[in-house]
Amino acid sequence: MNNILVMGATGKVGRHVVARLRELGRPVRAVSRSSPARFDWADRSTWQPALAEVDTVYLNVWGVVGVVDPAEFTALAVRSGVRRIVALSGRGDDGENYLLDTPYGPWAQAVADGERAARDSGVEWTIVRPCWFAQTFEEDPKLSEVRDGEVAIPVGEGTVPFVDATDIAAVAVAALTEDGHQHQVYELSGPRAMTFAEAVAEIARATGREIKHLPVGMSEYVQRLIDRGYDRDSAEMQAGPFQWLHRGKTGFLSDGVLRATGREPRDFADYAQRTAATGVWSAW
Ligand SMILES: NC(=O)c1ccc[n+]([C@@H]2O[C@H](COP(=O)([O-])OP(=O)(O)OC[C@H]3O[C@@H](n4cnc5c(N)ncnc54)[C@H](OP(=O)(O)O)[C@@H]3O)[C@@H](O)[C@H]2O)c1
Repeated sequence: MNNILVMGATGKVGRHVVARLRELGRPVRAVSRSSPARFDWADRSTWQPALAEVDTVYLNVWGVVGVVDPAEFTALAVRSGVRRIVALSGRGDDGENYLLDTPYGPWAQAVADGERAARDSGVEWTIVRPCWFAQTFEEDPKLSEVRDGEVAIPVGEGTVPFVDATDIAAVAVAALTEDGHQHQVYELSGPRAMTFAEAVAEIARATGREIKHLPVGMSEYVQRLIDRGYDRDSAEMQAGPFQWLHRGKTGFLSDGVLRATGREPRDFADYAQRTAATGVWSAW
């Protein structure tokens, strides 16, 4: 069996893709800038070694912004013998590009470019297009806010059906290892559209800690991120997706987890209980 190349292998989704493929006994080459097999979008000398004896690629374009068109990499991959590409995309990073008119625009464009590179590659492709990850609450800035007991929310009553990264990974692994997923676009969400305030309440319930949500305006949100050490550009980039939530564009459910895996997606409460047990949200 040839290797399956997993890009962004240390990321919120990639690490679960790697774990599941290894459970299945599939040979995996797990790469990122910090992995033993190093891959860096900004360093072309790392591309060919990553692709050696690989026939299937999990494509994560995080890191291409301002660096390269991912189509250059997929063309090299196909010349090297790759026959299947499964691309991680995102709701709002797709063809409609509704995040493009926010400060998140360059990242949305990069992800749309990744979708296009997979579709135009000439080999089997699958697009995995999740909405907002539940795991957002495990990394900064939301992780620090949860630990501090006060989570700033600039979205009013806007809702999002958070999807669990383990479900995203399950869809990706199905597409990487099974037939029948070729030329499919899997739109993924969790089973329940909820406000950020409801999500924070679930985390409070699961951890048994008092965690408040603090409604703020968009400019106050950006300022709070700057106060936490972000530069203005990064703070505005972080706030970009919230602008669309604020406009009520993100609350719809999608059936991709069921279509790809045959089972329903996990609820946010399940995610919160599981994650509370790891201690990641404990006080400093
Ligand atoms: N977060 C959300 O709610 C959400 C929702 C929908 C879609 N998405 C999409 O999900 C993707 C991110 O997913 P994720 O779970 O992998 O994110 P992540 O947890 O932020 O991980 C990013 C991965 O990319 C690697 N990386 C960063 N810069 C790199 C570079 N220059 N070259 C090679 N690898 C690099 C990182 O590892 P190293 O630092 O070791 O290189 C890491 O493994 C984005 O495309 C985003 O559009 C996210």
